[in-house]
Amino acid sequence: MSDIAVTVTDENSITVQQLRKRYGGAQATEPSYAVDGVSFEVPKGQFITLVGPSGCGKTTTLRCIAGLEQPTEGRITIAGRVVFDGAGRRTVRTEDRPIAMVPQSYGIWPHMTVLENVAFPLRHGRNRKGQHDIRERALAMLDQVGLAAYAERWATQLSGGQQQRLSLARALIAEPEVLLLDEPLSNLDAKLRTRLRIELREFQERFGVTTVYVTHDQSEALALSDTVVLMNEGHVEQVDRPNRIYEQPQSSFAADFIGGANLIPVRSVTMRSDGLLAETDAGTLLCASENQAGPTSGGFVCVRPENVEVSARTSSAGTADGLNEITGKVTASEYLGDRLEFILDVQGVRLKAQTPASMGVRPGDEVTVRIEPSRARYLAS
Ligand SMILES: Nc1ncnc2c1ncn2[C@@H]1O[C@H](COP(=O)(O)OP(=O)(O)OP(=O)(O)O)[C@@H](O)[C@H]1O
Ligand SMILES: [Mg+2]
Repeated sequence: MSDIAVTVTDENSITVQQLRKRYGGAQATEPSYAVDGVSFEVPKGQFITLVGPSGCGKTTTLRCIAGLEQPTEGRITIAGRVVFDGAGRRTVRTEDRPIAMVPQSYGIWPHMTVLENVAFPLRHGRNRKGQHDIRERALAMLDQVGLAAYAERWATQLSGGQQQRLSLARALIAEPEVLLLDEPLSNLDAKLRTRLRIELREFQERFGVTTVYVTHDQSEALALSDTVVLMNEGHVEQVDRPNRIYEQPQSSFAADFIGGANLIPVRSVTMRSDGLLAETDAGTLLCASENQAGPTSGGFVCVRPENVEVSARTSSAGTADGLNEITGKVTASEYLGDRLEFILDVQGVRLKAQTPASMGVRPGDEVTVRIEPSRARYLAS
């Protein structure tokens, strides 16, 4: 579990400090906390994603920021203002928080036209406007999201992608400080999802709105975010930029959830001047070491499939002392157009590997497997 220091400054749009939520209020019958000590901060204008498996507490965290859920403990600030403080017993109502939320179902009103939907926050919200102003602003916003031509249609006559844009337009029209999005793309097909996530990021940058995005899809989190908050069972596992969380996962959970990884169980570990030597069932592996304290045991060597180098058995290439080069057998292979994916059996350990599609290796073949030490990471847990 990461211990993250959070600071409330003008640079941060949101800070969440030691947030805990147990459902059921004072008479709670729930055995554990849905959110259990979550802390993170979101600098102004940034796009941050809460990602993690189903039930890890993403929606609960988002709803606490929105004020739709009363936290059990902790402190939340939005735009420099305390909106919840468990110790100080302070709670700001949802309608008084400078936020807009897009729920998973878009929350579009079917009995209204597209124009009426987008204009709604200007009639009823914190930012009420005069009648003439409302129509003009609503039309301008629809134009920004490419829906001006549909203004007079019923909202139900829009496609899934258009409804998503409408819900975004309605969220942005009242110029919120913070935009909260809960799995807004999950109802769409894969192709549309990819297109709309690019569009979504463009809108977010154009409007400069600080965004908290919830998804259980790790590729969406990597593609969209400035910062990824990886959650697991109510706590924060790691907070990092997308490339760092992929390249330098801090735990086997992070390595496996973000991008998938080979996790080779370790029996014992010794430190060397050039790295960390791990004894595993798949042989002795030299790994990159980072601030690793003394000899230890247990843990895993983490290697991404694209870093498992596979060559035909005759190869004699390798490191000088023969480390990190092992013999294995191909047990399965899958042709994916641009690449081949393999399952290898390396002395009883199952490894996933990837090579260019041109490599002629088949199930049953004996191969040499090499793992570049700088691409192997030792994870203590
Ligand atoms: N209203 C509620 N009453 C009681 N328990 C709840 C309630 N809402 C959520 N929970 C529980 O809190 C935990 C976290 O739920 P939450 O909805 O935050 O998860 P999530 O990460 O958003 O999951 P998903 O990816 O499935 O949407 C779960 O164990 C869930 O069963
Ligand atoms: Mg959820």
